[in-house]
Amino acid sequence: MDFTQEEATFFLRGLRKSGREAEFKSVFEELIVKYPWELSFIAETKIRPHYYIGILLAALQAKAIGINAITAIEFGVAQGHGLRNMEICAELVEKIVGISIDVIGVDTGVGMPEAVDYRDAPFQWKAGSYKMDKDELQKILKRAKILIFDIRTTLLPLQSALKSHIGFCSFDLDYYSSTASALSIFKLTPDSRIPRTICYFDDVLSDFCFFSCDYIGELAAIKDFNESNPRIKIAKINGMKHMFPFLGSSKYPFVEQFYVCHDFHHPHYNTFARLDIPGGTTEPLSDGF
Ligand SMILES: C[S@@+](CC[C@H](N)C(=O)[O-])C[C@H]1O[C@@H](n2cnc3c(N)ncnc32)[C@H](O)[C@@H]1O
Repeated sequence: MDFTQEEATFFLRGLRKSGREAEFKSVFEELIVKYPWELSFIAETKIRPHYYIGILLAALQAKAIGINAITAIEFGVAQGHGLRNMEICAELVEKIVGISIDVIGVDTGVGMPEAVDYRDAPFQWKAGSYKMDKDELQKILKRAKILIFDIRTTLLPLQSALKSHIGFCSFDLDYYSSTASALSIFKLTPDSRIPRTICYFDDVLSDFCFFSCDYIGELAAIKDFNESNPRIKIAKINGMKHMFPFLGSSKYPFVEQFYVCHDFHHPHYNTFARLDIPGGTTEPLSDGF
């Protein structure tokens, strides 16, 4: 198929509008495997672009340094919309990059626990909300493993479920206390993760009630982690909106929500890790840069 970006997007939209779902899926997959950075194709689907990008960046890094399997983790699953989305992204990225991707979700299963103190921003989040129906969720999941436990009490269930290097983490636990505990995953030995783990933080942006800052919520957890870990730093990806010009609008604020956990002393931190996608290109289809 040899389309310009506009023609391809228009074609995909037409297939979807006329209800030709199977054709839509196969054309979309063909296009995204050929042009993995062309996010206007993703915008025609319900795929969360931040999961897709996060898993793609992690998989490329892993492949470049010779790691052939990674794990994507959803911290905070609730009804599981994100976890199912993560599975779809994992499947796509496997086709693009050619490594295998495990998917794990972590949740209490019974919704938000009690807040510990003001850093959990109880003015914003409520204990008991976001309950999961595990049986229903299990019916729609294809590959993800769900781990039910309170991450503030232990990391062990997650630690023992890990079968490959952690590559991408989506943090959506809302509270400071839960996020701070989840970040301890980066204190495991370096062979548990890729040298620059891609992280997405769902709650670092503000809204009309929640004024995000370094003293509460996820930002406080990131700050405390960095202060107490001199050799590992969680740092924002600067200039991400220029990497993905298509996403530089308020409709896609997540370029502000991406961080990387840099493990400077990881045995592979200094290994050359640039990689063109097999069968694809790192050039965008349009000359949008
Ligand atoms: C906003 S919801 C997650 C939504 C989900 N990521 C999505 O996109 O569909 C937050 C979830 O974090 C979970 N959570 C918060 N603190 C937790 C903890 N300490 N241990 C495990 N799960 C926790 C809650 O149970 C809740 O389901």
